[in-house]
Amino acid sequence: MLILRKIAEVRQWVQEKKKQGLRVGLVPTMGYLHEGHLSLVRAARQENDLVVMSIFVNPLQFGPREDFATYPRDLARDADLAERAGVDMIFAPEGEEMYPYYPQDTTVQVARLAEGLCGVSRPGHFTGVATVVTKLFMIVLPERAYFGQKDYQQFLVIKRMAADLNMPIEVRMVPIKREADGLAMSSRNTYLSAEERRQAVCLVAALRLCKERFEQGENNSERLIKAMTARINREPAAQIDYIKICDADTLEEMSRIDRPVVVALAVYIGKTRLIDNMLLNTDVMKNV
Ligand code: PAJ
Repeated sequence: MLILRKIAEVRQWVQEKKKQGLRVGLVPTMGYLHEGHLSLVRAARQENDLVVMSIFVNPLQFGPREDFATYPRDLARDADLAERAGVDMIFAPEGEEMYPYYPQDTTVQVARLAEGLCGVSRPGHFTGVATVVTKLFMIVLPERAYFGQKDYQQFLVIKRMAADLNMPIEVRMVPIKREADGLAMSSRNTYLSAEERRQAVCLVAALRLCKERFEQGENNSERLIKAMTARINREPAAQIDYIKICDADTLEEMSRIDRPVVVALAVYIGKTRLIDNMLLNTDVMKNV
């Protein structure tokens, strides 16, 4: 497995592979890999000849009071995990390689989809994501790119961006990987103390409660959100940022579940902000 640091080297490597008719799948990450990231690699392996993983903690998508400086980084560990999962090449640029002029003048903004949910408490975040993903797409020129359902709004933003800007790249979604107790895997789970880790299971517990009530016939969003709120508030370290039930394609808030929806939440456990979601009333997952 190759590790490349320079954009020019990546372009040359990809060009050679494409001349041989090989198809490239790209898995963009910020590193500190876990099974969630590796499930994207496995999906990419199945559909492409070569898998490229980018590892770059993108400063443009972090707010001024967020965890850019403390975000966990360990390239040696990541390289080992990536190689064993079947990555052919890691692109791990330095900050100056990606942003010789920071902040750069040109950004990519996906208006409506980026406004709600995480866009409210993280203004500018999705512009940072869309901009860096555009740069990665232009550098690697993959046939397909893989994103996790864990960040469902991010997936929709990237998918829309690729469609709106006619990027000839298939944007694919991979289901959420969870720990044994249900907690969605995340690089940020490493911030949790043992006690916080125990309480963090309330996110998935609330989603499962919602699913159960919905399957029993409750489709009123307000009542479902009230039940989820009560479940989360049982944990002393939990502070809800949002709980929303939204149209699974447009992210428009729904007062009733009468179509495919995403139930999405963001909760602080102590100082750590965690997110999770569940698709309801949908057969979307059958396609991934
Ligand atoms: P990062 O948080 O490292 O996540 C990289 C990819 O892994 C994302 O597509 C994310 O949705 C996916 N992922 C994370 N946890 C997952 C889980 N438990 N199950 C399935 N997939 C999971 O998301 C980013 O990085 C960045 O915003 C990025 C797209 C790389 C742009 O900087």
